[in-house]
Amino acid sequence: MSQSLATVAYLGAAILFILSLGGLSNPETSRRGNWFGIFGMALAVLATVFGPRVDASGIAWIVAALVIGGAIGLYAARIVKMTQMPELVALMHSLVGLAACLVGFASYVDTSLQLQGAEKVIHEIEIYVGILIGAVTFSGSLIAFGKLNGRIGGRPLLLPARHWLNLAALLVVIWFGREFIRADSVADGMVPLLVMTAIALLFGVHMVMAIGGADMPVVVSMLNSYSGWAAAATGFMLSNDLLIVTGALVGSSGAILSYIMCTAMNRNFISVIAGGFGSGASSAKKGDAAEQQGEVTPIGAAETAEMLREAKSVVIVPGYGMAVAQAQHTVNDITRTLREKGVDVRFAIHPVAGRMPGHMNVLLAEAKVPYDIVMEMDEINDDFPDTDVAIVIGANDIVNPAAQEDPGSPIAGMPVLEVWRARNSIVMKRSMASGYAGVDNPLFYKENNRMLFGDAKQMLDEVLGALKA
Ligand code: TAP
Repeated sequence: MSQSLATVAYLGAAILFILSLGGLSNPETSRRGNWFGIFGMALAVLATVFGPRVDASGIAWIVAALVIGGAIGLYAARIVKMTQMPELVALMHSLVGLAACLVGFASYVDTSLQLQGAEKVIHEIEIYVGILIGAVTFSGSLIAFGKLNGRIGGRPLLLPARHWLNLAALLVVIWFGREFIRADSVADGMVPLLVMTAIALLFGVHMVMAIGGADMPVVVSMLNSYSGWAAAATGFMLSNDLLIVTGALVGSSGAILSYIMCTAMNRNFISVIAGGFGSGASSAKKGDAAEQQGEVTPIGAAETAEMLREAKSVVIVPGYGMAVAQAQHTVNDITRTLREKGVDVRFAIHPVAGRMPGHMNVLLAEAKVPYDIVMEMDEINDDFPDTDVAIVIGANDIVNPAAQEDPGSPIAGMPVLEVWRARNSIVMKRSMASGYAGVDNPLFYKENNRMLFGDAKQMLDEVLGALKA
């Protein structure tokens, strides 16, 4: 393939990636967006493999790597459960970081490139910065993976003088950067490069360890952004325009997502990075039973069905528990049954519900819930006082009134879905355990609230049976 054909193919792939991002911004066009992304990536890989910079002898290696990598990816995508997606995404981000590091070291020891003067300095800065971002992304994503799957506790690790430690690390990295650029030989430059890599790896671990469980949504999107910048840095090192453009697209969309997540949690981005959120006394160990704050009123499936049947308007609030129970299809069946009976049913989606951005939207779309009844938090929060029944399915933190009522709560200030303002609310969960942030939930004890205890799928099946009876 000639250079000009490869350039045209890269341009086509870049346009397809932009169309893909545009499509993914709306549930109705997201499938199309996904296809654009698939075609764009296929075009990019073909144009690279058959492009002018790969000679025929390298193709066998590339094909072997594609087959092995593709098989692992296919296997992982098939076996991973929907609830494990955030962990898988974190793991994938770590691979982008690792790739940036490896490409950086390979570019540095590559003797085929003989640059001089300013060009040499620029190339070395690209390598240094690329490895720095890659190493932070790699270790930070591995810690995020551990936190998301519960192997590492959600409690933030707050080392004494941690901000000073980070500042010192930054100064050391800048100093070694100077040494790296001044080095006369690859052997001399390798020492500062390795020291910086070690510091960057430790910084990635420290940065994510210091972030409390409640701030994990921001971390997930922030690492998404870092992985994009790591890819862009790789693009600079390899002089690959498409990688630069794609990396910048991922990096900036991840940054926008981090901003949206911060707004959704009423948090300042800098204070999230500074860490420590969720370290309050009430951030109990995950799964701990909430402290008894009064009496809860349990309700059965038949009674729940009765309340729903008699309601004029119902708002369903799905959360992480719906994903765990895989109850989305039953939720759709109940929605259809109620709508056939003339009940106005809508969904209220909190931006950080579940464990990854858009988690609930994906599940509801999979179950074919009509998009026009799926509302964002801001669109529906004012409608709760006019709602007869608000039914919370496996959600906890996102409907916690303590965010508004208790200034000492670790989630104080986070906007929440105000289900307690509905005439009646029903919370469906298995026990009195707290949610991801480990915070007690006063909603359970409100007078107009009922608790439907049990696995969401099982209970909803019973409710559906009673509705149809
Ligand atoms: P959570 O606050 O985690 O609450 C989920 C509830 O579901 C739990 O209290 C659990 O109670 C219940 N549950 C679990 N399995 C269930 C099952 N099989 N059937 C019925 N209920 C079940 O979830 P949320 O309200 O969706 O809030 C999300 C939280 O995750 C926020 O704190 C958010 O910051 C955090 N987070 C979000 C993200 C993103 S990007 N969305 C990423 C990381 C963390 P029982 O054990 O009693 O059943």
